[in-house]
Amino acid sequence: MRIGIIGCGGIAAMMAKTVGPMNEVTCYAAASRDLEKAKTFAETYGFEKAYGSYEELVADPAVDFVYIATPHSHHFEHAKLCIEHGKAVLCEKAFTLNAAQAEELFALAEEKGVLITEAIWTRYMPSRRIINELLEQGVIGEVRTLTANLCYRICQNERIIRPELAGGALLDLGVYTLNFALMHFGNDYSQMDSIVVMTETGVDGQDCITMKWDDGRFAVLNASIYGESDRHGVFYGSKGYMIVDNINNPLAIDIYDADHTLVRHIDMPEQITGYEYQVLELMDCMRKGAMECPSMPHAETMRVMRMMDSLRKDWQFVYPQER
Ligand SMILES: NC(=O)c1ccc[n+]([C@@H]2O[C@H](COP(=O)([O-])OP(=O)(O)OC[C@H]3O[C@@H](n4cnc5c(N)ncnc54)[C@H](OP(=O)(O)O)[C@@H]3O)[C@@H](O)[C@H]2O)c1
Repeated sequence: MRIGIIGCGGIAAMMAKTVGPMNEVTCYAAASRDLEKAKTFAETYGFEKAYGSYEELVADPAVDFVYIATPHSHHFEHAKLCIEHGKAVLCEKAFTLNAAQAEELFALAEEKGVLITEAIWTRYMPSRRIINELLEQGVIGEVRTLTANLCYRICQNERIIRPELAGGALLDLGVYTLNFALMHFGNDYSQMDSIVVMTETGVDGQDCITMKWDDGRFAVLNASIYGESDRHGVFYGSKGYMIVDNINNPLAIDIYDADHTLVRHIDMPEQITGYEYQVLELMDCMRKGAMECPSMPHAETMRVMRMMDSLRKDWQFVYPQER
């Protein structure tokens, strides 16, 4: 199938490197707001077409599906553009700026009969199933606690610190910690609390989120744009603990016993970059005529968007587009 990429920035380059070696995908079109930039991108990654506007790319009948790699602030507009042109969509996380936008997109996609899914890559990876199987097997006994962190020093990055680009730690990094907690502890949490530090530019710079489940389990989640972290997800059990390295791209799992001895090291299956799983699932669903992907159903995207809305409400943090 022929991929079209909208926005020739950082993650678009990573996607281009991913689909390059995939036999199932033809590197077809890249679109930028700047034609020269699109041409350079297309030449660098072996794409057949370069467009100087996103509208031209979605109007090309040869494009089978579109990967949206623009800032969070623009996902709604760009996904809408794709759906209106009947293009299947793989839209980067955070899916939209808020839940209302996500809801509108899903309704439109349903009306037009177009497949759309969120490119939250960790949901589509084999590590998700491997982690859950280990937990179910009781390899570390009864698990009551998980911690997860995702921090990068990206506080100098305009996309991250500008409110008008829907910046902030939550939509960029916290979204992974929330998804990690939901994927491995389930959706039926009963309480969520948080603390936040806002930047001078008016976005959340670092967040600590705590969640509680009625059966006594809880999660402690950290995201920050100010410094680096080990990005570990850790499960604490009655017989030991399990470290997932890392929650943004799980490559290995280490299991320790109660004496802090490493008893098992598990490498995740070899991958191109890890972005291929979401592309493969999207194409599989397109062939089947499905409207959503099983690894990230629309209801799950809505759940995470509503959680982030609720956290921002507690922080009295409103994006300029929401005023
Ligand atoms: N899955 C992951 O691991 C991962 C990692 C990083 C980022 N992401 C997600 O990918 C998306 C893009 O992130 P990125 O790091 O690639 O960002 P980036 O390097 O800043 O690129 C974003 C691109 O969006 C386009 N764009 C359209 N309107 C824009 C505007 N008003 N201001 C700035 N850029 C605009 C630009 O492309 P043109 O100039 O070519 O039009 C720009 O190069 C975000 O949703 C982010 O959360 C995901």
